[in-house]
Amino acid sequence: MTQEIAVLSAQPDMALESPAVRKVFVKTYGCQMNVYDSDRMTDALAKDGYVSTDVMEDADLVLLNTCHIREKAAEKVYSALGRLRDLKKKKAGEGREMMIGVAGCVAQAEGDEILRRAPAVDLVIGPQTYHRLPEALQRVKRGERVLETDYAIEDKFEHLPAPDKAKTRARGVTAFLTVQEGCDKFCTFCVVPYTRGSEVSRPVAQIVAEAQKLVDAGVREITLLGQNVNAWHGVGADGEKWGLGELLHRLTRIEGLARLRYTTSHPRDMDDSLIDAHRDLPQLMPYLHLPIQSGSNRILKAMNRRHTTAEYIALIARIKAARPDLALSGDFIVGFPGETDEDFEDTLRLVETVGYAQAFSFKYSTRPGTPGADLGDQVPEDVKAKRLERLQALLLKQQNEFAQQCIGKTIDLLLEKPGRMPGQLIGRSPWLQSVNVDANASQIGDIVSVRITGAGPNSLFAEVVS
Ligand code: 5AD
Ligand code: SF4
Repeated sequence: MTQEIAVLSAQPDMALESPAVRKVFVKTYGCQMNVYDSDRMTDALAKDGYVSTDVMEDADLVLLNTCHIREKAAEKVYSALGRLRDLKKKKAGEGREMMIGVAGCVAQAEGDEILRRAPAVDLVIGPQTYHRLPEALQRVKRGERVLETDYAIEDKFEHLPAPDKAKTRARGVTAFLTVQEGCDKFCTFCVVPYTRGSEVSRPVAQIVAEAQKLVDAGVREITLLGQNVNAWHGVGADGEKWGLGELLHRLTRIEGLARLRYTTSHPRDMDDSLIDAHRDLPQLMPYLHLPIQSGSNRILKAMNRRHTTAEYIALIARIKAARPDLALSGDFIVGFPGETDEDFEDTLRLVETVGYAQAFSFKYSTRPGTPGADLGDQVPEDVKAKRLERLQALLLKQQNEFAQQCIGKTIDLLLEKPGRMPGQLIGRSPWLQSVNVDANASQIGDIVSVRITGAGPNSLFAEVVS
């Protein structure tokens, strides 16, 4: 599964404004995959003269790229649609048209329901059909309300435009690149296999070409994305079967590509070549998001994770033997149906044993249509809340301890963007922490050697080592 984030991905374009220019505002919910998809949709719309705006009121088209992973995420969409309905009405009163589109996993899972509950919505489009967006908008213009959620037989990636140079540059020196989509694991709590469909890997040549384009536009760090990224497989130029390890090797041959990451992985798909890549490729950052979800073997079984805690711990030991400075991140769910106090204590024990530099934890949310929804023995909300509080306190303690251990270390920092203070830049440590440092804006994109001098709640402080 991909990590949870909530971002506003609308980015103002550099294009000159003219009355003929149409504006799109994209709001992105959920995971990095959605961030990537939002950028690709924006690129696809550019062909029809759309530029991005970060002012919703100015938009001719508002697209919500939605997340269905938990109930709360889906509900957010309906409340946003309520506000958009009012805005659309207000604009219509002023003689200005505004189209509303819903994309992403809520669109895929609840397309009909959205059209029924939200009459202001003009377009519902699922994640596999984004390349049909321009055509779908034409249909809206002709007066249709469009529902486009059939799994497209054609490969969406072949039809979606690759990132454009100027836009990529404006988006920064780090980039996401989706290499795999969908999931065949069917964890019993998870909607992804239903919303994103079964596993599909993009071909090597397509990935390499896209990575090269990103690097040509100034990108220094690429994060390979997939719901189950380490299930990626393909055939190399040598005609051999490749896994993610081989793909990473190939990508390190791109000159100027300084850093690689990948997310999110399933423990069962960490094969030898991927573990060896952590040992052999200095460009591969020593940070791994490897969710286990629970520390109880009984619950892991009920979740259909198909591994035990002992297997997970042994796997971590092998990866750390390959790359001793590797830091771990994970996801946890508390209150899966049938989870007892003892099961939960097992989760706390596992966290103590493994030690996480960062982790995401959630209360189990029943997702209609998943096997978990039909299980009896649902855990009461207040019990889930108490468990989550205890788990998050432990994870936060570990995160702070990890940050404290960084103080005094000299590390490589990729300078990404201006900081809050003048003369300050923000960069990323190899372990994905934000680091504030005094540096010149002309250095954005450089990798500099810095010494960590302090740790705040969400970021580190450092000084450049001359
Ligand atoms: N309830 C709570 N958390 C969930 N996740 C996935 N499905 C659910 C659910 N039904 C969490 C998992 C996953 C992360 C992205 O979201 O921990 O790894
Ligand atoms: Fe969901 Fe499990 Fe697949 Fe991750 S591995 S996307 S949690 S079904």
